[in-house]
Amino acid sequence: MKKIIIANWKMNPASMQEAKRLFDAVKNTEAIICPPFVYLSVFKYKFLGAQDCHWEQSGPYTGEVSPKMLRDLGVKYVIIGHSERRALGETEEIVEKKLKAALKAGLTPIFCVGEKKGENARKVINKQLRGNLKGVIIAYEPVWAIGTGDFCSPEKAKQIREFIKKKFNNKVLYGGSVNSKIAKDYTKVGFDGLLVGGASLNAKEFKKIIKNA
Ligand code: PGA
Repeated sequence: MKKIIIANWKMNPASMQEAKRLFDAVKNTEAIICPPFVYLSVFKYKFLGAQDCHWEQSGPYTGEVSPKMLRDLGVKYVIIGHSERRALGETEEIVEKKLKAALKAGLTPIFCVGEKKGENARKVINKQLRGNLKGVIIAYEPVWAIGTGDFCSPEKAKQIREFIKKKFNNKVLYGGSVNSKIAKDYTKVGFDGLLVGGASLNAKEFKKIIKNA
């Protein structure tokens, strides 16, 4: 089965010119590309995703972008509940509202869950995975593994994947310091794909990840 590979560019690259260059280098793959909002409207691509959205479809929310706006642009996916958003104050309630709104607008949410260093992964994930998750892609992203180079061992990640799969029939991805050397170790233990941050900013490395996964 084909694996789902997602590029989360986060707040990168810093200019439209660089963004276009990176996009041109990866647009012939079937990876889901999630650039910052400001670049979304210039990229014509079948597998375009956003990194966040609001829980309302329109209204007095200065600085926000609604799922409906994204859908209207041709965006198909949206990352929800990323730990870097949660760190800015997003609660489980907010995340749940965003999931609902994204689904309502016709977007496929990529729902990030995972424990912080020292926390019990199963306990945390149990709390995070709630509401109606039909049509949602789940990404297991241990927070301590994001952007640190300290990836979660495929063996350990596999146990969490199985824990999630016992309750939910959804596709489950792994994310957290993925690189081309370890990419296939996660798909080998059953993950349906990968959520890639840092390494997705290097087109060559990202394409290697796609190939190896
Ligand atoms: P990373 O980020 O690959 O740089 O660890 C993953 C993510 O935040 O989705």
